[in-house]
Parts: sequence; C-alpha cells; structure tokens
Amino acid sequence: MDITRKKSVDDVIHQNDEDPEAAEEHGGSLRKSLGVWDLIGFGIGIVIGTGIFTLTGVQAKNNAGPAIVISFLIAGGVSLLAALCYAELAAAVPTAGSSYTYAYTTIGEIFAWIIAWDLILEFALGAAVVARGWSGYIAGVFNLPSKWFAEEGSVVNIGAIFITLLLGYVALRGIRESKWVTNGLVAIKVIVCIFVIAVGAFYVKTHNWVPFIPPAQPAKSSGAELTAPLWQFLTGVTPSHFGIAGVLVAAAVVFFAYSGFEAVANLGEETKKPERDMPLGLLGTLGICTLLYVGVCLVMTGMVNYRDLSEADAVADVFHQVGVGWAGILIGIAAVAGLSSVILVDIIAMGRIGFALARDGLLPPIFRKVHPSWGTPVLMTALTIGTVAVLAGFVPISVLAEMVSIGTLFAFVVVSIAVIVLRKTQPDMKRPFRTPLVPLVPILATACCLALMASLAVETWIRFLVWLAIGLLVYFSYGRKHARLAKIDIAGELTQDGTIPGSPQ
Ligand code: ALA
Repeated sequence: MDITRKKSVDDVIHQNDEDPEAAEEHGGSLRKSLGVWDLIGFGIGIVIGTGIFTLTGVQAKNNAGPAIVISFLIAGGVSLLAALCYAELAAAVPTAGSSYTYAYTTIGEIFAWIIAWDLILEFALGAAVVARGWSGYIAGVFNLPSKWFAEEGSVVNIGAIFITLLLGYVALRGIRESKWVTNGLVAIKVIVCIFVIAVGAFYVKTHNWVPFIPPAQPAKSSGAELTAPLWQFLTGVTPSHFGIAGVLVAAAVVFFAYSGFEAVANLGEETKKPERDMPLGLLGTLGICTLLYVGVCLVMTGMVNYRDLSEADAVADVFHQVGVGWAGILIGIAAVAGLSSVILVDIIAMGRIGFALARDGLLPPIFRKVHPSWGTPVLMTALTIGTVAVLAGFVPISVLAEMVSIGTLFAFVVVSIAVIVLRKTQPDMKRPFRTPLVPLVPILATACCLALMASLAVETWIRFLVWLAIGLLVYFSYGRKHARLAKIDIAGELTQDGTIPGSPQ
C-alpha cells in the first residue's frame, strides 16, 4: 500500500547531507558529544514552562484543589511510560530527525504524516498557550489590566499577541539564542521552582490542604455536555468539577506541563552512550521536573486557599497574597524570561517541520523556500506567527492547552503501538535502547494515554478529530501524489514491503 511506504535509513542520512542546516545541527561538532547531564539540561529547558507557571493555578482552582499534586504525579507517570517507548524508536533510527522522520522510516508515510500534523498542533498551540502565560506574568509584574493581559474577563489578549509578533520576528530573522542564554534560562527556571519551594514552605498553612481532594460539585453551566470529559459524556455520569474525576481532568490538562520531553529522545544520535544515557536522560528530565512540579504545587496550595489562586500568574501571585511582594516580582520577571524562550523554540520548530514536510513532497515546495539572507523558511514561519497570534489573542488558555494535551497523548499512543508492531515486523533492527518489559510497558502507556484522553472535554475531541480530518484531506489530496517516495514508487524502484532496495532495515 503506497500510504505505508517507508523511507530507508540511508535515504534519511543522505537527505541530511542535502540539508546543510540539519546536517550542521545533527552532525558535525554535536555528534556523539552529549552525556546524561546535557540531555537533562536540554530536557528541562524545553519542559518547564506555562504548564507549571499558569495551568497549575487554573486547574487547582477549577478542577483539583490541592490534589493538583496528584494530577501532576499521574501525568508524570504516564509521560514516563511513553518516554520509555519513545526512546526505543528514536534511538533506533540513526538520524536526529523528529519523531516524524523515524515514523517515516519505520511504520510508514501516513503515520509519519499524522505525527507531523500532530506536531504542528503541539507546537503552534503550545506557542499560543505559552504566549498567554507570558502575558499573565507581565501583567502581574507591571500591574497591567487583566482584561487585555490575563485570563479572567479577557476580551482580546494584546500581551500574548505582542510577544508572538515580537518573537516571531526574531524567529523569522533567524536570530537564535546563544548557548549561554539558553543555559541561563534553564537555570533561571529551575532556580525559580526551588526558590518557590524553599521560601514558600515558610508560609504554608496546613489547613489550606484540607480537604485535599475537594468533594465533587455539579458543573455550573447548564449546557455542560460538550464541556464534559468524554467518559462522563459517554457514560451519562453528571458532569462535575473536583472529586476524583476532577483530579483526572486536571491530570489530562497538566500533561501539557510535561510535553516537549520527547525532544530529548531525538538527540539519540548525538549521545555518547545512547543505550545508557538515553533512558537516564529521559528519566532524569521527567524525574526532576516531576519533583519540582509536585513541590511547587504543594507549596502553592499550602500558601493560599486553592479558590484564591490566580489564573494568570499563580506562582508569583501567591507571594503577593502572603505579603512577600518582592519575591512575587522576582518570580514574575524570571517567568517572563523563561517563557519567552519556549515561544521562540516553538516558532522555530514549526518552520523546520514545514521545511521537512515540503522536502519530502508532502507539502508544496514553497514551504521549503528559504529566505536568501535570513536563511529561514519564511512562508511556514510567517503562517505560524499569524496563526499563533490569532489563537493567543482570542482563545482561552485551557482550551488551547487541552488541544496540545490531546495531540501529544495521541502521538504517544501511535509511538507505543509502533514499538510493539516493530518488535514483531523488524525483530533484527538495531536498537541502541530497548523499551523494558515489552509488550507490557507499551500496552500500559497506550492504555494510560487513552484514559487521560478520555478525561478531556468532548469539544476538545471534536476539535481534534476535525484537525485530523483536515490533515487526512491534505494528505490524500496533495501529499500522497506528490511525495518524493511516490516518484520512486512510480519508477518501480520500491520493493514489496515498501522500502527502497539496499536499505539496511
Ligand atoms: N511543557 C511546556 C510547558 O509547560 C510546553 O510550557
């Protein structure tokens, strides 16, 4: 079947040679130079963002109460299972391409396309979520009106639009952060979390943790059906906030806070000892982030009653509420700096996804056109900036975050299933890292991801399915015919299993 045709590993490596930027990033000086701590530093830099700084407040206030701690533990556990599956596939394909590239070499074109379409959702909407988070913190630091900068009562979020356009321009001009700026921002984010835990602990009043899981309350709005979690909708259980169901809903949304860790798996090729360092890097990143997240949540919900948490800048605001304003301002400034880099990385990544898809013929060639002096894929980057600015300006943060969560969870389901399938279909493939206890771990990962997806709102599912349907439409009307592999296919060069002859698979 042409829709499951695969790229050979050789082809991927050869393509990197044709793409100097990718070759520079993925080969050369970086080759085999990374150790465990490099991986963990990189991972933390991508992972810590709006999830902990903003969604914690929104979800504790509306769905979980102090039990937001449990939500973060659940989301961290599911991420861990998925990470173990991710690492096997990412390390098996000897290129540092994204999950899209290795899906293309292992499970076939249509799955690769779906993952790429999913990544577009993850990065574009992720950037919008972080832009709104950024705006909430800048409002806190400078006392700006929440109507224009935060979630509550917001009409249009001009802060989020402003930062998207500003950093979009930086991405378009191809200005990247230097390594020390990136490292500095990672350090700032970790220090903020440790600071919140260490200083905030002195202001904790244990009665704020009681009840730890607030009792379930019926959902407020009467037309709650589409806003109800899918499983409640399907089983006819009355939609509710808080209680165990609320903790699960919050877990599914704050899953966003862990998204991005999978990028660590893509550094497999540049890692000195992938079979040892990859699992340690992934587990280390997730372990450290989970510890910091749980600590910050415990302290925040202990400092003030969960009902008083801010939906815009909760981590800084709790310090204002207990009268330590200077700490609130410091945290606000640090959050603004830390979140900026996440937006920039997301916009740059989108440009690269468009470039990779166009190079493979799955998107029109115009998407791989690089600006003559800036050296960036202009069309995709400009489209991204426009879309992110509109979304960030008008769509509430929870709606956006739920979409990112469902997209990421879905990609993890595909990856986990692929691990099992490939163990059967390509048992001899070289695997520098092997997922432990296959098929148990991938099955558990799939089941947990599906369970979290079922805790997301029906309207999120509808939006996601519409997005996937549009993706399939684009694929069947364009990509399937114009794919580079289709041309090889027509020339009759493909073998029966859809790989190019001579492929080392
Ligand atoms: N995990 C990243 C964040 O929380 C995307 O902002």
